[in-house]
Amino acid sequence: MKRRDFIIKSSLAGMALVAIPNIYSQDRIITKLQAGNPLRFPPELQPGESLIFNSAEVEVWPGTTTQILGLNNSYPGPTIRVQKGSDFSVLFENQYTEEATIHWHGLLVPELMDGQPKDAVQPGNNYTYSFPVFQRAGTYFYHSHAHHLTAKHVYMGYAGFFIVEDEEELQYGLPTGAYDIPLLIQDRHSVYQPQFNYSPSMMDRMLGYLGDVPLVNGTPEAFFDVQKTLYRFRIVNGSNARVYKLGFSDNSPFHIIATDGGLKDEVVPTSSVFLSPGERIEILFDFAPYNIGNSITLQSQTFSGIGNQGTLMELLRFDIAGDLSSGGTAPQELPPIDYYDINDISGTRTFTLSQGIMGTGMHRINGLTYDMNRIDEVIPFNKLEEWKFVNNTNNYHPMHVHGVLFQVYSRNGNTILAPNDKGWKDTVLVNPNETVQTLVKFIDYSGTYLLHCHNLEHEDDGMMLNIEIDNPTNIENEDPSPNNFELSQNYPNPFNPSTTINYKLTIAGFVTISIFNLLGRKIETIFTGHKSSGQHSIVYTNKSLASGTYIYELRMNDRALRKKMTLLK
Ligand code: C2O
Ligand code: CU
Ligand code: CU
Repeated sequence: MKRRDFIIKSSLAGMALVAIPNIYSQDRIITKLQAGNPLRFPPELQPGESLIFNSAEVEVWPGTTTQILGLNNSYPGPTIRVQKGSDFSVLFENQYTEEATIHWHGLLVPELMDGQPKDAVQPGNNYTYSFPVFQRAGTYFYHSHAHHLTAKHVYMGYAGFFIVEDEEELQYGLPTGAYDIPLLIQDRHSVYQPQFNYSPSMMDRMLGYLGDVPLVNGTPEAFFDVQKTLYRFRIVNGSNARVYKLGFSDNSPFHIIATDGGLKDEVVPTSSVFLSPGERIEILFDFAPYNIGNSITLQSQTFSGIGNQGTLMELLRFDIAGDLSSGGTAPQELPPIDYYDINDISGTRTFTLSQGIMGTGMHRINGLTYDMNRIDEVIPFNKLEEWKFVNNTNNYHPMHVHGVLFQVYSRNGNTILAPNDKGWKDTVLVNPNETVQTLVKFIDYSGTYLLHCHNLEHEDDGMMLNIEIDNPTNIENEDPSPNNFELSQNYPNPFNPSTTINYKLTIAGFVTISIFNLLGRKIETIFTGHKSSGQHSIVYTNKSLASGTYIYELRMNDRALRKKMTLLK
């Protein structure tokens, strides 16, 4: 049994973070004929370790230092590795002079754990992010999401991997351990080298801040020694604005096995794939046909794009160094995906992406720029909707939604999808003058979430909306009745201004308790966090609401119970 397998199996008892030191370390045996720097890997976050935001000096280009803004003096930030079914919790300490958040991109978390601009952690303050991880295994990531500061923070180094593992995935025999390689791709401006100066011009604010030097896991001119065997690469586009067309220098085919939200339902061969900011893709590549001593390079290939998009870039050189075997295989099949049926939609929403004149607010959705105090769309919980993204501009807009994994349905009416569109997505590239149809259903949390362009210059410029996921007002359970918890009638009822809500959990878990009005609009979340099994109670006090009937909800993962209560003044 390989060491990594052993660690994964032995950790299924509920340990949230798995420490796997040095799994990528390589003994350098052959003398390099070609230049470059060995691919770096960020440290893994250890159980109980905090995430501290500050500036730091790190070595990016050999022999010099770069001032970064990031977590734990590391660029990229520490890699977080979590088992599905565990509760993740980390203390975030903001020791820098600007507000910041940690947004868990692609993870389904309660509103108050989502790291939105409205919930920024001020300089000198701390915040505990905690949430249950119940979604599928996959490659997710995290980054700062502070108001007007996201682009700067990410550019200066604030991003890292968040990898979810589960038992289901293990059964497919994919390469693991030293053969399962996360790659964070970002671009930087050589003109400021070795600094990460974030100083976009007006044109950069229009098109995005596009660097000319690619960094992979923070490594310039990166190379990686590989064995003549099958590898799994988890590729995150953490660039502010650059779209990559990934392919190998000899045009060899590779296999796509996963999209943003984990494994696809089939292994798809291709020789190139587009990856826009915020998107992830996982591929399998077999180095067996190559000879030891040879090299092959992962590139971004040329394509015709506006501005400086589409230029050829050498991302990562693989030097064939040995003939060990990963023991991994390219599976014949992958877990099935239930595709939504367009005939089941309960409504359609159109999001028109437009470009105004140069200045602020030049990138808009439905004519709007972001206002953190305005709710732009109220979306029903647990209802399938068709969302159309209509790009009336000649720029790329990778559209990202928080709080949900969705499916792409068509591009310009064409329902035959490219392999990177088919599967679970949280970010979809909407090309110039294109309309992309997606199918979206919020099944996990209600509350306020975000819809935005993941070109971070566009996002900071206001190409972002608040969406509110509404809860059904009927207190009948639409879901199969939860058997892990009970919710009692509040006491006293009617009440003014305080009442006690009792509830009982038969298993420990992560609960959220919220108050809604009869229109289904959430008024507030009164508790979100982990609770042990047993009897619990919470006191709810409201002095500002008008007399009337309200709904309180107890939610645990994807199940909820609701009851009515009456405020009588
Ligand atoms: Cu990765 Cu709202 O962003
Ligand atoms: Cu996100
Ligand atoms: Cu955009």
